[in-house]
Amino acid sequence: MNLTIIGSGYVGLTTGTCFAEMGHHVICVDNNTEKIRTLQSGAIPIYEPKLEELVKKNVAVGRLEFSPSIAASIAESEVIFIAVPTPPNTDGSVDLTYIEKVAREIAQALQPEMGYKVIVDKSTVPVKTGEKVSQTIKHYAGPNVQFDIVSNPEFLREGCAVDDLLHPDRIVIGANSEQAMNVIKRVYQPIHAPILETDVNSAELIKHAANSFLALKISYINAVAKVCEKTGADVELVAEGIGMDKRISRHFLNAGLGYGGSCFPKDVINISRTLGIPFTLLEEVEHINDTQHIHFLDRIRDRLWVLKDKKIAVWGLAFKQNTDDVRESIALKLCEKLCGEGAIVTATDPKAMHTAAPILNPMGVKLVEDMYECARDAEVLVIATEWSEYANADLQKLAGVMRNRIIFDGRNILSPANLRAVGFEYHSVGRPSVEEA
Ligand code: NAD
Ligand code: UGA
Repeated sequence: MNLTIIGSGYVGLTTGTCFAEMGHHVICVDNNTEKIRTLQSGAIPIYEPKLEELVKKNVAVGRLEFSPSIAASIAESEVIFIAVPTPPNTDGSVDLTYIEKVAREIAQALQPEMGYKVIVDKSTVPVKTGEKVSQTIKHYAGPNVQFDIVSNPEFLREGCAVDDLLHPDRIVIGANSEQAMNVIKRVYQPIHAPILETDVNSAELIKHAANSFLALKISYINAVAKVCEKTGADVELVAEGIGMDKRISRHFLNAGLGYGGSCFPKDVINISRTLGIPFTLLEEVEHINDTQHIHFLDRIRDRLWVLKDKKIAVWGLAFKQNTDDVRESIALKLCEKLCGEGAIVTATDPKAMHTAAPILNPMGVKLVEDMYECARDAEVLVIATEWSEYANADLQKLAGVMRNRIIFDGRNILSPANLRAVGFEYHSVGRPSVEEA
């Protein structure tokens, strides 16, 4: 099938590439001409495991191309996916101007002689946005254009997006016409996964409800972790114990600094906001998340008494492992607060130094490529992102470079027993501390 993806970011580029890998002909469009030039030159603007090789392969066989023009691309395509940003406004509500603009651009490009088109929203949007997109296209398009709107929310996680796209748990297709439903089922025909067929509103709500529920699990275990810290219980054991119940499951019960990223923080609070329906449970989820890293910082301050002029090393800047994305990263929030109290902060990340630098340089954070050099002479090492490089750190080497052997592990990735053996003082989230030898 001939497909257009409008928006070639984390979702659009990976989705388009995976559609090409499935055998479709895909044009990825973006209005950022620099990004399109980069892609056309054979480079990838983001770090996402497995993506680069798949892009190269599918470009080489002519199934994947890049274009700055919506009009030229949709003329050739049966299905048009929208994957543009839906970022938060300053008051936390969703900014839908990107979606509205794309709807207008599509409308202006549609012509009756192009035949029937299916326009699919893949961006995460509040329920009932599809109706607005449909109205907007009808309003701005000329007479006699034929189209349907579909909601096909995306559940990929950054860092494992290619696997999530090629092997999803489920595919949700929300369509109000059988014709549109059948077209999108054909798009996904090569993928072996259950398909849930719904109306447009239900599909939109499934996405918000899924993200909110996952965020709720994280805040829940972080709230349990605080009880553990007061009582000497171990949150890892508690998570394991409750997660063995299949109705609960162990997934997304990793206590830590809380969730960051471009999606959970905005999606949790926007499930019902535009409808004026209060959802106070999710307000508490957000509150727990907002205060989680502040509580962690309080613990660091309790240990060091005064942070001013103390050298603190931070391992991890990305909002999670295996990505260079620092949007709403808790690691950056921690760096900002440490700098705000006058600490001398050095930081490192395997992939996200270039994305973090414009934010951290003005704060005075020193970015250091090598993780051990980053920790040199530090009084405390803070682990802020769950990279496997940090989980597998050479503790002897680390002990040799730090001024004090004190670690605050905000992602519970190190083993207390290993740290005890090397003589580290170790503090993590919801687990008993290993005190100074
Ligand atoms: P992104 O910022 O990485 O990419 C969006 C792209 O759209 C950018 O390259 C931007 O230049 C382009 N764009 C903006 N306006 C455009 C226009 N008028 N015409 C053409 N291109 C335009 O964003 P993302 O992370 O890919 O997220 C996109 C959507 O998918 C959001 O709604 C997000 O909530 C949702 N989502 C994201 C993820 C994720 O893990 N990042 C997962 C599932 C769903
Ligand atoms: C999340 C969802 O997992 C995807 O299904 C969804 O498609 C996506 O949001 C989206 O809508 O954008 P993503 O944000 O890429 O994916 O990454 P996650 O793996 O969900 O992690 C999000 C945050 O939660 C990270 O900061 C991570 O460190 C944190 N997290 C995750 C925890 O603190 N504990 C956990 O147990 C799991």
